[in-house]
Amino acid sequence: MQRIIPIASDHGGYALKEELRKRLESTGLIVKDFGTFSEASVDYPDYIHPLASAVNDGEYSLGIILCGSGNGAQMTANKYSKVRAALCWDVEQTMLTRQHNNANILSLPGRFLDAETAWEMVKVFLSTPFEGGRHQQRIDKISQYTKID
Ligand code: RB5
Repeated sequence: MQRIIPIASDHGGYALKEELRKRLESTGLIVKDFGTFSEASVDYPDYIHPLASAVNDGEYSLGIILCGSGNGAQMTANKYSKVRAALCWDVEQTMLTRQHNNANILSLPGRFLDAETAWEMVKVFLSTPFEGGRHQQRIDKISQYTKID
């Protein structure tokens, strides 16, 4: 498991980000906190872009982002060609997006998740390997559209 975990949120995800940051640190992992750092209203792209860009550049292999719904954060992160950000709200989805989609960013809806569920999801996200095989072929096709007659 990577030792430095990058995390970013807007105000809608701030409370859950803080909870996850403390739990990650309590397990001995190092957290790179891209902000936001308070409940004050901010624009989510200002905090998600720096994390997504760093994952895209290979600085981190996995990252965690949050906003109120998880949607704005996910949409921002998926602007990067090497990012596969998945919006998840339970453990099974989180496991599947690692196994089948090789998701490298987990997007969490801070206003719709309790801390216990989110923490279980984060642990699964960080520890579940990609299955490869037919799933790699499908991932390759995400950015290479070939029309089937
Ligand atoms: C902020 O109010 C909210 O719009 C934001 O956190 C997020 O849910 C956007 O997708």
